[in-house]
Amino acid sequence: MDPTPPPLAPLMEPYARHVLVCTGGYCSPDRRGRELYRRLPELLQREGLLFGPRRVKRGETPCLGVCAGGPVVVVYPEGVWYAGVTPQLLERIVTQHLRDGRVVDEAVFHRLGAP
Ligand code: FES
Repeated sequence: MDPTPPPLAPLMEPYARHVLVCTGGYCSPDRRGRELYRRLPELLQREGLLFGPRRVKRGETPCLGVCAGGPVVVVYPEGVWYAGVTPQLLERIVTQHLRDGRVVDEAVFHRLGAP
C-alpha cells in the first residue's frame, strides 16, 4: 500500500489578462516596482478585476530582461510592455487597459511580435 496521496490536479479559473511587474533593482535602482506590485490588488479589486471572467492575474518577477527605464510592466495576452511606470501610470494601465481594453499607447515601448 502506497501512503503517498495522489498529486492534486492543477486547476485554473478563467481569466482575461496577466500582468507582470518587475520588482528588480536594475531597471529601477530604487526598486519602485515593489510599491507598484503592492498597490495592484487594491486597484484590481476596485475595478472589479479580481474575480470572474475579467479577472486579471498578477505576478512579480525579479527581472524581465530589460533592465533600464523601469519599473517595467508587461500585460498579456497583448504582449504590451510599459516602461517608467509610476503609481499614476499604473492606475491608468489598470483602468484604461486592464478594465477597458485600450492600451495606454504613449507609455508602450515594445509589443509582442514587433522587431
Ligand atoms: S531588473 Fe527590471 S527588467 Fe531587469
